[in-house]
Amino acid sequence: MTYETINVSPATTHIGAEISNVDLSGPLDNKTWDEIHQAFAAHSVIYFRDQSISVDDHIAFAEKFGKPEEPKKLPKYSPQYPTVSLIENDGTKAVVGNRWHSDNSDYREPPLGVAMYAEVVPETGGDTLFASMYAAHDALSDRMKDILDGATALHDNTNVQNYYKGAGVIVQDGMAVDEPSEHPIVRTHPVTGRKALFVNAVYTQSIVGLNKNESDALLALLFTHLQAPDFAFRLRWQPGTLTLWDNRCVQHYASADYLGHRRMRRVVVGGDRPY
Ligand SMILES: [Fe+2]
Repeated sequence: MTYETINVSPATTHIGAEISNVDLSGPLDNKTWDEIHQAFAAHSVIYFRDQSISVDDHIAFAEKFGKPEEPKKLPKYSPQYPTVSLIENDGTKAVVGNRWHSDNSDYREPPLGVAMYAEVVPETGGDTLFASMYAAHDALSDRMKDILDGATALHDNTNVQNYYKGAGVIVQDGMAVDEPSEHPIVRTHPVTGRKALFVNAVYTQSIVGLNKNESDALLALLFTHLQAPDFAFRLRWQPGTLTLWDNRCVQHYASADYLGHRRMRRVVVGGDRPY
């Protein structure tokens, strides 16, 4: 793929690319947006360094990919921006997200993606790891792909709720265990047409139609498989890094290895029903 307006440096073969020669604080022409969308489809996670963007710029960026969603469970960045969450940790609180997952796969329509902007990062640590679920799917044997073809799984937020309870967080309305959502184990990406593994250890509870032993064993196999470093890359945040990940074909892991202050802004882009 050649680009005329932006520079695209892949982080690994399967996933991740740094995009440069773009200033997201100002307007961009259509050609540049087309190329950013192409890079997003090709690399699943795109990141821009040294961006000095306002909250409005951040929301405008997310809107180029879909409709920002108001999150149920996270604190707001500021009252006048209901779709912008604040992720802040002074290094003394438990890190949420240090398990491979896609965000809110328990929703009937899980997020399309997440645009995260780093304001303050710890001196070391606090990286986010991202893994390509296209690569995880493609690496399965043909026989396993046949087994998974057409199979569905139930996703809910039981584990998240238990986690919050364990951490002493008062469970509010938005955190109650919702009805599970049933999604295909292998979903088809609506833009690229590629197949991606769509089960994760945070939200996926069981495989429909299998007994508990079979379901637990097959899910455990898939959860182990998808963690292979071959499918992943590790993003070192800097102040001013804006990252967009495609939640439809990527899982991520927030490394809980840091001490010190971390402050991020997060905008979720709404998605559609997996198929
Ligand atoms: Fe997450």
